[in-house]
Amino acid sequence: MSPTHAPDPACPPIQPEILLPLLGAAAGRIDLQVLEECDSTNLQLQILSKGGAPAGTLLLAQRQTAGRGRRGRSWYQGPQSLAFSLLWRLPADRPPSGLSLAVGLAVAEALPVSAQLKWPNDVLLDGRKIAGILIESAGPQCFVIGIGINLGDLGDLPAEIAATACGIPVDDRTHMLARILDGLVTVLDEFSAHGFSPLQSRWQMRHAYQDLAVNLFFSEGGEPVQGVCRGVDANGELLLETATCIQTIASGEVSLRLQ
Ligand code: BTN
Repeated sequence: MSPTHAPDPACPPIQPEILLPLLGAAAGRIDLQVLEECDSTNLQLQILSKGGAPAGTLLLAQRQTAGRGRRGRSWYQGPQSLAFSLLWRLPADRPPSGLSLAVGLAVAEALPVSAQLKWPNDVLLDGRKIAGILIESAGPQCFVIGIGINLGDLGDLPAEIAATACGIPVDDRTHMLARILDGLVTVLDEFSAHGFSPLQSRWQMRHAYQDLAVNLFFSEGGEPVQGVCRGVDANGELLLETATCIQTIASGEVSLRLQ
C-alpha cells in the first residue's frame, strides 16, 4: 500500500475552473474530474469506462493509495505531484504500436526541464526516472493512459518517492498540467492520424541510451541480451545491435539497464 499524505498548503489542489481556461489544444477535448483520494486513477477510470464514460474523460487524484506501476509494481505518489489517467480511443485502423513512446514524448516535451527518454516510455532527468506512464487496454482501440510525476523538492521526501521526484518547483502545478494536456492531446492526434513515425525523430533526439551498451532483461527470466541501443524504428520498436545483427524489440515485458 502506498503512503497517503495530508493536503499540502504549499501545493493547492488542482481546480478545474482554473485549469480549463488555460487549455489550448486540449480545450473541449477532455472532461476533467478531480478526486481528493482514490486507490488508483487507472483502476477507477477502467471502472468509469465500463460504465460508459466517453473518450476524453480524465481522472486526476490529489492522492492515490494504491497507484499502479508497470510490470506489477506500485507507484508511490508524493505530496506534491501530478497523477492522472486519460481515457483515449484510437481510430479503428490505427495499430497502437508506439503509443506509449508517443505519450512519454509528450510528457518529456512539456516538462520545464531537459528531460530524456528511456525506451519504451520512462522519462528521465540526469539519468533518474522522473515520470512514469502506465497504459492499459480498456476495450477495442480504447486505452487508459496513466501518468504520474512527482514534483517538488527531493530533500524531505520518503526514499520511495524521492527515487522518482524531479525537483521541479511545484508552485505552478496547474499551468504545468495544462501544458502537459495540450502536448498530450496534440501528440495523440498526430499518433491517431499517422502513427508513431512522424514522432520518431523527436523521440530519438531525447533518447537517453542512444549508442550506449545495455543489457536487455526479460521478465520471465533467463540470460539478458547484450547490445548497443541504436534508437527506435518507425513503429517505436527498439533497435538493439548485438554481436550478430540488429534486433527489433517490441515493447513488452522487458527492461533495459546500462552495462
Ligand atoms: C511506471 O511504473 O513507470 C508507471 C507508473 C504510472 C503511475 C501513474 S499515476 C496515475 C496512474 N494511476 C496509476 O495507478 N498509475 C498511473
